[in-house]
Amino acid sequence: MNTDLLLAQKFYEGGDDIAAQEKCLALLDNNETASEAYLLLSQISFEREDYDTSLRYLSEAEEKNLATLKHHYLAGLNHYACNDFPKAKSAFEAVLTIDPKHRDGLRNLGVISKKEGSTLEAVSHFCDALTLDSSDELIRRNLFDVLKAIRWEDVRVKELSEPIRRHVEASLNFPEFDMTRYIPVVATLVFSSDHILLANKVLGSSPIGEGVGSSYRSCIVDVCRDALLQELLRLNILPLPEIEVFLTGLRRVLLEISVNERDFLTHIPIQFCVSMAHQAYLTEYAYETRESELTLLKSMQDELSAKIKDGNPLKLLDRAALAISAAYISLDEWIDIVPDALNDGPLSSLFETQIHDKRVEARLLGEIEVHSPVTDKTSIKVRKQYEENPFPRWARIARPPSSTIGEILQMLFPYFQAPAKLFGTCSILIPGCGTGQQPIQEALRYPACQLTAIDLSARSLAFAMRRSDEYGISNLRLLHGDILNLGECDDQYDVISCTGVLHHMADPVAGWRALLSRLSPGGVMKIGVYSELARRHVAEVRQWIAQQNLTPTEETIRETRHLILNAPPEDAKRNVLSIVDFYSISGARDLLFHVQENTFSFPNISGAMDTLGLEFIGLQLSRPEIGETYKRMFPGDPNMTNFHNWHDFEKLYPDSFSSMYQFWCRRSE
Ligand SMILES: C[S@@+](CC[C@H](N)C(=O)[O-])C[C@H]1O[C@@H](n2cnc3c(N)ncnc32)[C@H](O)[C@@H]1O
Repeated sequence: MNTDLLLAQKFYEGGDDIAAQEKCLALLDNNETASEAYLLLSQISFEREDYDTSLRYLSEAEEKNLATLKHHYLAGLNHYACNDFPKAKSAFEAVLTIDPKHRDGLRNLGVISKKEGSTLEAVSHFCDALTLDSSDELIRRNLFDVLKAIRWEDVRVKELSEPIRRHVEASLNFPEFDMTRYIPVVATLVFSSDHILLANKVLGSSPIGEGVGSSYRSCIVDVCRDALLQELLRLNILPLPEIEVFLTGLRRVLLEISVNERDFLTHIPIQFCVSMAHQAYLTEYAYETRESELTLLKSMQDELSAKIKDGNPLKLLDRAALAISAAYISLDEWIDIVPDALNDGPLSSLFETQIHDKRVEARLLGEIEVHSPVTDKTSIKVRKQYEENPFPRWARIARPPSSTIGEILQMLFPYFQAPAKLFGTCSILIPGCGTGQQPIQEALRYPACQLTAIDLSARSLAFAMRRSDEYGISNLRLLHGDILNLGECDDQYDVISCTGVLHHMADPVAGWRALLSRLSPGGVMKIGVYSELARRHVAEVRQWIAQQNLTPTEETIRETRHLILNAPPEDAKRNVLSIVDFYSISGARDLLFHVQENTFSFPNISGAMDTLGLEFIGLQLSRPEIGETYKRMFPGDPNMTNFHNWHDFEKLYPDSFSSMYQFWCRRSE
């Protein structure tokens, strides 16, 4: 390479833009170096956000026939930065004309197509880009994000189902990728496949209790052989009403087959029966079970129990039947002698979750460290609920990249100057940690920090301890106690992160004050509480339930869910079907039967912060579109910290905080 050009690049890499620029300008007349010199000049202007100049250099290069793929690519970035999407698109298309396998060119075309509302085109570009580099995390997220916005009927027309399915299947092999965030999308993909649509029609017309007609056996078999469906059923709860109805029907058919025509089970992969059992277990057996099914189940359990007692190894079909039984009732509830079939082979994962994990938790119950007694009247009621139904019973979390609190705050709130200590080792308190999802995620995210988590429910803590061990966590201490008693201890914490808890206290501000008493000077707090507006549909259903004076047993929760699931389309109660918590017993109890629930509004929060002497840092939004809309509506509040504005905003978009208000604050200076 030309030595002057090399020098220009060295200046640029060393941060001396001016010298690099001077060198480049001197090289423009030399045919050998002009193309690279234009590129570097354009790059320097691009980084200064001087897009006009950057583009001018690129068009000069083009006029002189010196433009290469890199020039077109940089032109695309410039036009994109100027929000000129049509020109950006042409530039990236020019890149692809030169190199049809240019991954970033394809990705950027996908991003632009999405911006322009051409979601299917975006899907197609992201799929192509991911085919070129299946390990690219960003493209994977781009693809899954755009999948949320597509209409599945269109996907079928455009024949994109196959590549999407292929990439979704491959994504299961990337543990850092948080597939659980996209469960409804993936579930919709799987459940819009031809074989499932057909089976759905067939199941809908199935005369229950009259055996399985031969006409639709083959489509049931096709469904059970769907490998992605098998994986999905094990991954997490599938929170969609039509899927629950379908799986309830399919489970019924499997039970009938296993009792009346067991030989037919040879056509059904045992892995599918196991997957069904995992899904049912995740929901805590929330699906409707008819009397006729209970009768069949009982006869099957009696038969299997006798075989297990005899000590003969269970045959393959008996193992499948055992798995199907575990889709109705947890194995630990009726298996006294653990048969060999559960110790290895396809059923061993059922042994793990339905027997072994519960044994571990029972042992851990005796090892929980006590922080403080629980004496408050409301705390006692709330504790009882979470002892009976620990929540959330989460399945898995993706390992988050490690970071510091300071870095996270900087990313969320660029205008906020986080204290230096938050960029290093600091102490974090998680009050009301529940079953550990939140503290374990944070312990993984902040490996240099020491975390302490407290909860009222010993069973929730035992669940959290088991999961914490499974994730190999060593920087988390889990304690049993009431956060109302925090005021009586001396420990101080740099960060206090309390979500989904204060609204379950009789006096949330008293709870908040107790937390504040443990906040170290310069410390920050993250709070998450329910929004009254976003919970309006939940409030209606809660009121309907309260009028019936129901005791929240598993049975009543199951029946109430069934009524809501089968309510006519115009029934407002169906609004809660869009909430994930509806799809498990403990979730539905937390959502609809909670013993103590308060809700907040922006004026409430603002008032409480004034009372406590707190300063608002900012809202942690669940979707970036919320912030984008807010900024368009209130251009005078770029930091988005004005409570009055937010209150007006929420009145206009009442579902913005359906996953709670989550915000950061600190003591007023
Ligand atoms: C809905 S769960 C939320 C758990 C967790 N923060 C999360 O986001 O996954 C609420 C938890 O708060 C706990 N809780 C409620 N009041 C509490 C109190 N006064 N002291 C300690 N824990 C409390 C409950 O036991 C329950 O486990």
